[in-house]
Amino acid sequence: MNRPVPSLSNRSISGAPSWKTISGVTHLALPVAASKSDVESFEILIPKRWQEFLERELDLDFEREFKKAGSSFTGKPGEIVEVPILLDSQKLSRIFLVALGERTYIDLRKSGALLGRKVKGSKSSLLSFIPKEIYGAQVHLTAMALATYSWSTKGGTKPETPTLELAGDYQSAISRSEILVDATWRARDLIHTPSNMKSPASISTEAQRIAKHPQIKVSVRSGRELKEFGGLLAVGNSSRNHPPRFVEITYQPKKKNVPHVVLVGKGITFDTGGVSLKRPYDTMMAMKSDMAGAAAVLMTTYAAAQLKLNVRVTGLLMLAENALSGTSQRPSDVIKHYGGTTVEVINTDAEGRLVLADGLAYADANLDPDYLIDVATLTGAATLGLSRHYGAMYTRDHKLARKLHEIGEFVGDRIWHMPLVDDYAIALESDVADYNHTADKFKFQGGSVTAALFLEKFVGNRRWVHLDIAGPARSEADAGENPKGGTGYGVRLLTEWLASL
Ligand code: BES
Ligand code: MN
Ligand code: ZN
Repeated sequence: MNRPVPSLSNRSISGAPSWKTISGVTHLALPVAASKSDVESFEILIPKRWQEFLERELDLDFEREFKKAGSSFTGKPGEIVEVPILLDSQKLSRIFLVALGERTYIDLRKSGALLGRKVKGSKSSLLSFIPKEIYGAQVHLTAMALATYSWSTKGGTKPETPTLELAGDYQSAISRSEILVDATWRARDLIHTPSNMKSPASISTEAQRIAKHPQIKVSVRSGRELKEFGGLLAVGNSSRNHPPRFVEITYQPKKKNVPHVVLVGKGITFDTGGVSLKRPYDTMMAMKSDMAGAAAVLMTTYAAAQLKLNVRVTGLLMLAENALSGTSQRPSDVIKHYGGTTVEVINTDAEGRLVLADGLAYADANLDPDYLIDVATLTGAATLGLSRHYGAMYTRDHKLARKLHEIGEFVGDRIWHMPLVDDYAIALESDVADYNHTADKFKFQGGSVTAALFLEKFVGNRRWVHLDIAGPARSEADAGENPKGGTGYGVRLLTEWLASL
């Protein structure tokens, strides 16, 4: 792991306020809202006795601090007044007065991320008074911790790691947050790793490391063991140095007779496009993150085990590099997928669906899943409609879609239900194989929809969801709780959903 995860904890503030209660704290974050009686002034939303304690001990008048901030503080959610503290006797050096609206989950995540960014890379110890209930506490703290993430191979002194704390009795939120942050962090590390430093084999090794957990088992297939996996081979054989792997990792809880969820992740460790080389060339820069689906699947399986969820989870990682070489597949090749379906390759840059098709067919034939979900940075088209803040979700199960959407809004991995438009399926007809692998007929566009329709051919009658995460898997800037680069999108969404089964 490139940087340690910040340590998370809580402090009870139910007793009489004292320096001892906040000993060691360097930064305090206090929630603020427009006063109900007077819109011109603001209220600090913490117990009165704490406000009195701070004002007395620090010789502060919060009302005056707001006045000093003048028009730069209007009370809009996300605004912060920073009050420097100069005390020789205590470590406390700064108070953040953070404007909040209704303290919705979005407000709590945003304010958490803002605060995390303030202490990122430092040895600070930040105590937040912002949440007022357990679920809000979880999303606030998780966002705070995730916003401190960084990845780099720079020499010199390493950045420090802050300590993040909540004021209140939130023990269960802390432990859940710890697991979600750790799992997301690990997914980010895999995604940030450049493609000369990772490979299908190295990600398999990471899966084997995770499988040291007593409730997790893993099997890794390579070479001849992959002969039925025509899609994975067609793509992965393009790389002599980094040949493909199929990883099956299973978390089996102690309890039997639990639902079985199979997650299939696209794990392209670099996507050049193959012979149909990606254009313009600079779009390739982002393609070390084309394994973000597999990273999310692996770390969700890990998080489910850490949380001891009562659900069996099998993660299938479809790991391959889509390279340009003498052994690359060609446009017009016909490949035979797991289970025998034949497919005519149109554009070798549509490699994701080829590796996923094998995984989905394998799951349907061998694993009897109650739910079958694939996660993939599949199409640029998905980002055209939704941009980067929403993933595209395809499923025929509307109830399940609504549930996933709601969980996404809560945890911050947001997702939008898209239609599987049957009218477009004819675009996948091939003259020589069961199907074309891209929709090159009739110019329907809708590349994300037709990709989903292609995948659906391999899921049998399973309850299936396809998550096209090409947009949110990667951020172009430090924004909210996400760093520039791999976000670890999907870990929080899928883990919370598994927890709800
Ligand atoms: N990995 C890409 C999709 C992608 C694009 C992810 C941008 C993240 C950002 C995928 O393998 C791909 O190349 N898809 C093609 C499909 C097309 C050839 C049918 C695309 O979207 O252009
Ligand atoms: Mn591609
Ligand atoms: Zn790709």
